[in-house]
Amino acid sequence: MNQLHKSVLLDEVLSFVKKPTKSKFTFVDMTLGRGGHSRKIIEKLDSENLNYYGFDCDDEAIKYVKEDFKNLKGNINIVKSKFSKAIDYLKENDVAGIDLCLFDIGVSSPQFDDPIRGFSYRFDAKLDMRMDQSQKLSCYEVVNTYSERDLTRIIYDYGDEKFAKSIAKNICLARQNKTIETTFELVDIIKSSLPKKQLFKEHHPAKRTFMALRYEVNKEHDELIEGLKKATEFLNKDGILMIITFNSHEDAIVKRYFDSLTKEVFISKYLPPSEKEVKYKVLTKKPIAPSYEEIEDNPRCKPSKLRAIQRL
Ligand SMILES: C[S@@+](CC[C@H](N)C(=O)[O-])C[C@H]1O[C@@H](n2cnc3c(N)ncnc32)[C@H](O)[C@@H]1O
Repeated sequence: MNQLHKSVLLDEVLSFVKKPTKSKFTFVDMTLGRGGHSRKIIEKLDSENLNYYGFDCDDEAIKYVKEDFKNLKGNINIVKSKFSKAIDYLKENDVAGIDLCLFDIGVSSPQFDDPIRGFSYRFDAKLDMRMDQSQKLSCYEVVNTYSERDLTRIIYDYGDEKFAKSIAKNICLARQNKTIETTFELVDIIKSSLPKKQLFKEHHPAKRTFMALRYEVNKEHDELIEGLKKATEFLNKDGILMIITFNSHEDAIVKRYFDSLTKEVFISKYLPPSEKEVKYKVLTKKPIAPSYEEIEDNPRCKPSKLRAIQRL
């Protein structure tokens, strides 16, 4: 197991992996991180005919995995890309479809625990939060240039923060005097926007706002929808797609999307239930959650949920 990042729900993911019987088998990991899931899946597939593509938008993840996967067997390709563009890349490179696909979305421990990346309210750092270090938009621009209205919407919608309005107002007031430069400056503004009793709750007072800003910086909501849609459409017959999410928002999107692919649509009581052909089957009636043992070993995995779908 990689010491930098503990791959979550690993056994559960591996339970959907079967040794390929076809002559060419394509496995795509959309969120490489440090390659923990990929390595174990590649080892389980154990195939000379493997066509493997691993994507990530983070330069450090790509550099690490390129080195680490040097000696793995099969046709191994490590590509820097957002996953919303991964299928375009595969098509341009003459890949005809995917047999196994994994999304393990969100940030990795190396990203979160690196003080200079600015993802965490635990470290004082420049406002950044970019997963792709070459992208222009960072948390600094969001916090210092977005309107009060947009900040309120983002913090409320993506962070489920009921004090979003007050936080956005105080961000805009603070930046009238000077630009907001660091995570700790932002934490202070957030704390000053909350009622006193909120400061002593189980979760850090800045947790929701930081998550919402990270979502906006990396356009995680749009990425999830576009990436998921393109990848399911590109599955081969019998191909399986697995996705691990880290909060109820993301899981709800995945659930609704899977439902839209697999449930017959009710149009009218005078018509048969659906005109459309159902091309997919959900393999996880309920999302799979981590075991007590896994949570004890890695408390960060607690909110994770795994869902899987198969093309018929
Ligand atoms: C939770 S980690 C994956 C960990 C990995 N499964 C492992 O076992 O090491 C998520 C990774 O996805 C990447 N990522 C998140 N959103 C992305 C996107 N839209 N496009 C490409 N990579 C993305 C992050 O940079 C991060 O490295």
